[in-house]
Amino acid sequence: MSEHECNPSAKEAKETLGLSRRNFFAGVALAASTLGLSTLASSAQAASKKYKVCSIKDIKIGGGSIFKIAGAGGLQVLITQPKSGVFRAFNPACTHEGFRLGSISGTNIICPVHRATFDTNTGRATRGPARQPLTKYTLTVENKNIFVTIRS
Ligand code: FES
Repeated sequence: MSEHECNPSAKEAKETLGLSRRNFFAGVALAASTLGLSTLASSAQAASKKYKVCSIKDIKIGGGSIFKIAGAGGLQVLITQPKSGVFRAFNPACTHEGFRLGSISGTNIICPVHRATFDTNTGRATRGPARQPLTKYTLTVENKNIFVTIRS
């Protein structure tokens, strides 16, 4: 497993909403409803942030890499590709004592400290002493680039 510095050039799409003028009262009700939804959406965006991590070409099928996310306070993310075109993102800290995961063998991510293993597809602990799964991040692929969304 290798470590890379990532490119922080992720741009988030902005959504615009339009209102119908057919009925004034319906418009007012719709505006109130829209404002309520916008407030909720803003809260959700403030609580999470999307980062560009790497290109899909950086992750071998059956492999994985750990990336430092620039602009995220030194946060690291483990990206795996358990099957062709299937990508997963995890916190690379072992859930036993928090040491950094080290390598991948077959379908397992291996902790070098006490040899716990985790499934590359689900993050489930497959061998102790770790019992808890890895923390999973939301991953999206856009234009052959991998993005993760991290909640703060
Ligand atoms: S820290 Fe990973 S198995 Fe103990």
